[in-house]
Amino acid sequence: MKQNSKTLFSQDRKISQHFDLTESITLYHGDCLDLLRTIPDESLQLVVTSPPYNIGKEYEKKLDLDVYIQQQENVIAECVRALSHKGSICWQVGNYVDRGAIIPLDTILYPVFSKYDLMRNRIIWHFEHGLHCSRRFSGRYETIIWFTKS
Ligand SMILES: C[S@@+](CC[C@H](N)C(=O)[O-])C[C@H]1O[C@@H](n2cnc3c(N)ncnc32)[C@H](O)[C@@H]1O
Repeated sequence: MKQNSKTLFSQDRKISQHFDLTESITLYHGDCLDLLRTIPDESLQLVVTSPPYNIGKEYEKKLDLDVYIQQQENVIAECVRALSHKGSICWQVGNYVDRGAIIPLDTILYPVFSKYDLMRNRIIWHFEHGLHCSRRFSGRYETIIWFTKS
C-alpha cells in the first residue's frame, strides 16, 4: 500500500482517509463519532457495526453501564441521521458481563433504537467455539438487530 499525505492507494484503488461521497472507499483510523459527524444526512445505504461490548477488551475501557449506553446512543443518533430512507442499520452485539451476570446488549440497546421507530428484525446466529463457562451455559450465540427507516 502506498501513501501520500491525504490518500492511500492499494493496487490501483484509491482509499480516502476522510468521508467523501464521490469516493468508493474510506478508511478512517480514529473515533467513529468524528467520522460520522462528517457524513451528510441520509446519505448511507448500509451501516454494519460490531461496537465494543464494554467488557474490558484491549481496545476499550470498561465503563459504567449508563455511560456506555450514552456513548452508544451518541453513535446510534449519528448513524440514524446519516441513514437514507431506504437504508439499513445492522448492530451486531453479544453480552455484557457484570459480576458474573450476563446482560444481552441488544436488549439494552433496543430502547435506544425504539425511539426512532425503526425495528426490522432480530437475527440470532450461533457458533460452536469459545470459552466454556463453569457456572452457566456457555455463550454460543450473538445477535444482529436490524433497523430500517421504511
Ligand atoms: C467487538 S469489536 C469488533 C470486532 C469485529 N467485529 C471483528 O470481528 O474483528 C469492537 C471494535 O470497535 C473498535 N472501536 C472501539 N471504540 C471505537 C470507536 N470509538 N470508534 C471506532 N471504533 C472503535 C475496536 O477497536 C474493535 O475493533
